[in-house]
Amino acid sequence: MKIQVIQGPNLNMLGIREQNIYGPMKLEQVHEQMKEFAKQNGVEIEFFQTNLEGEIVDKIQECLGDVDGIIINPAAYTHSSIAIRDAIAAVNIPTVEVHISNIHRREEFRKTSMIAPVCAGQITGFGPFSYHLGMIAMIQILSELRQAQAQAQQQK
Ligand code: DQA
Repeated sequence: MKIQVIQGPNLNMLGIREQNIYGPMKLEQVHEQMKEFAKQNGVEIEFFQTNLEGEIVDKIQECLGDVDGIIINPAAYTHSSIAIRDAIAAVNIPTVEVHISNIHRREEFRKTSMIAPVCAGQITGFGPFSYHLGMIAMIQILSELRQAQAQAQQQK
């Protein structure tokens, strides 16, 4: 089981940017915790951060045939990017949308997610713990998929 984590613009600034909203934890620390949890669950995990929309689209396309699930925080692109939404729809890989802050409790423009309709679900507002919850959700989704595939195989 392999999970790709994709982090959008300004998330490399965690621990520095708007600590009152995003807290003091750095992105590397968040990834360390995720790595540990992945190890405990026998899951392979890779991380990618970029400030560029097209690089997120490229990374999603690269996941095809290589990755079982995607955990994505598209950051500000959440609210605008049809390109990222189309890329997720194109690869058809189970995807969980994650946000550190609760996007529904903030400015009006943050309440809309362009990518939510093509994701399995959205986790928002639990601080860095949102990523942990995202992993639990992803592992559950992939286990259910495997079970369904195994059952279909048996019925052949
Ligand atoms: C964010 C929320 C977005 O609105 C914002 O642009 C971000 C981070 C979050 O994780 O809370 O950069 O995705």
